[in-house]
Amino acid sequence: MMTLCRATLVVLICSSIGVSGQENCVDLLNAANGGLSSGPYIVYNGGKCINVYCQFNHGHVLTFLSPMTSGCVDMSRLYNNKTVAIVYHIRADAKQHIATLKQLGKFSNVPLSVQFNANVEYQGPINSAMAPYVFVGFIPKHMTKLHDIQGWNVNGKDFTFVNCDANPNSYFAALFNAYHKGYTNYVGYYNKLMFAWYDLSTAVPTHEYLPRNFFTPFFEIHHGGCGGFSRGTNVPDIQGVAVGVRSEITCANPIPVQHASLSFPGLSPGNSVTYTCEPGYIIVSGDAVRTCHGLGGWTGTKPKCQVQNCVTMQNNAAGKLKSGLYQINRGGMNFHIYCNYGNGDGYVYVSPSVPGDVDLNMASLSDDSSLVKVIHRRHDGKQYEATIQQITAFNTLPVSVQFNKHDGYKGILNAAMGPYVFTGFIPLSHNVKGGVQGWKVNGKEFTFTNCDGNPNSYFAVLFNAKKAAYTSYKGWRNNLMYAWYDLSTPVPVSDSLPAAMFSKDYEIHHGGCGGYSIGTTVSDVTGVMIGQRFIITCSEPDDVRDATKTFDDVKPGSIVTFICNPGYTSSGDLVRTCTSTGGWSGVQPTCTRLIQMPLSAFELLANITPY
Ligand SMILES: *[C@@H]1O[C@H](CO)[C@@H](O)[C@H](O)[C@H]1NC(C)=O
Repeated sequence: MMTLCRATLVVLICSSIGVSGQENCVDLLNAANGGLSSGPYIVYNGGKCINVYCQFNHGHVLTFLSPMTSGCVDMSRLYNNKTVAIVYHIRADAKQHIATLKQLGKFSNVPLSVQFNANVEYQGPINSAMAPYVFVGFIPKHMTKLHDIQGWNVNGKDFTFVNCDANPNSYFAALFNAYHKGYTNYVGYYNKLMFAWYDLSTAVPTHEYLPRNFFTPFFEIHHGGCGGFSRGTNVPDIQGVAVGVRSEITCANPIPVQHASLSFPGLSPGNSVTYTCEPGYIIVSGDAVRTCHGLGGWTGTKPKCQVQNCVTMQNNAAGKLKSGLYQINRGGMNFHIYCNYGNGDGYVYVSPSVPGDVDLNMASLSDDSSLVKVIHRRHDGKQYEATIQQITAFNTLPVSVQFNKHDGYKGILNAAMGPYVFTGFIPLSHNVKGGVQGWKVNGKEFTFTNCDGNPNSYFAVLFNAKKAAYTSYKGWRNNLMYAWYDLSTPVPVSDSLPAAMFSKDYEIHHGGCGGYSIGTTVSDVTGVMIGQRFIITCSEPDDVRDATKTFDDVKPGSIVTFICNPGYTSSGDLVRTCTSTGGWSGVQPTCTRLIQMPLSAFELLANITPY
């Protein structure tokens, strides 16, 4: 028997409380990352909401339909364990008892079929007027036959009979009797096969009691062909029954993480997901390994993979870091950089003590390749700075800062004095004999005509880990070579670098005929260092569970707004602003469920009169 599905007011309420997509107790559990307590809940079922009772146990959950349920319910969305059905009953003394129903051993490969108000492939109940009903079918019609041994298994024990007349009944139906009908005249009787679920039942611990409104006093059992027929009035001690379905608890698919790959063998309790950050990225918060626990959630918290640099470190510190030396990691190696934080931007310098074998992508430290800053230190200890850029003719080309290599450029003469920071200007691909070359220092162009096609175009700071000596090629001082010295301005105290950040060795080359120079050429310079500019932005704001997030940008001044889902209340700041130091103002909000929507409140809202 099929019932027409009716669209009801329920749909509206259901979507307004935001449960669509949560179709069963396991979904609810997953959405809460585990740890929900047993209780009445509302789940989404084929376009409408239904009331269920979720009884959460370690590793599995039992689900009971409210006897107020009407219309169409797709039971298959509610459970995944097709080998068992649970029958609770409540007695005259108000105590609750439980029994587990399964197929007979010989039918153990046949799934139980739990249906709402339907009995597809099965003979239906005699009291179908007492609809709707939850139907638990055991042996399907086509598998029953005359003289065959049939029955069911209750609490591990087979109860059998021989089918005497080929009658295919094989079910337990809990009748919700929405229209207050009476039973048919057919009474049936009490026998061991019919009432094993009562006789063998065990007492339910009180903390696992179902609310009384999940029981119905009406039911019908039928087996055979000579197995038996019985109904709710046959055992006066039984005040009501509730049929539960069982789901094994699994975890939701693990959340993907930006800049990380993930792998997991499965979603069952005990399975772990492992996150691996892309090269150059490290986990800055959360857990690299999360394990699915028996409560339906993943242990730990979502990891965050981040490339470490002055900006992201500032983001993680909510914009509160001061300029200074910070340790970062690349490819498993730790070393120091100096972050000079300004207002909205800043400069980063690599410590001269960085090991030469660090695979350091300098672009990962800076997002501004339009200029570099050269700081130098003089004998009197004072520091001076100048910015260097491409000449206007090449201003679409980046200034290429590289660590210990010179991709796209002709390399240095004093490579033995590495590791080095290489700042390349005009790349090999743009370098021609007769071309006008040079660089722009503090806004002023210094050019020469390439006399012999020699493609040198760089400023390299040599960290000289092995204390090697310069080659015999000395170079000379000229305006082009030393504009960064001649035009430099004093460094404000707030931007000055520790003395240890300078290297006394460097090499500059612009050729042919631009010039060549080394650290010994200007005796007043005791050290140089090249800095890359970075622009301060905020990191993308983290999501808030049970809230929507809106934000346009991560530039200082941008705003992120959170709105808690309906039925949730907030603490923290729902509006946060990206500050010029790279943090979001205020405190990340949290959204907490206002109330666990109780069944009765839901009934009231839905204005359903089930009886
Ligand atoms: C179904 O539940 C029973 C416990 O009654 C359990 O033994 C069985 O392993 C479960 N089936 C599946 C497929 O998980």
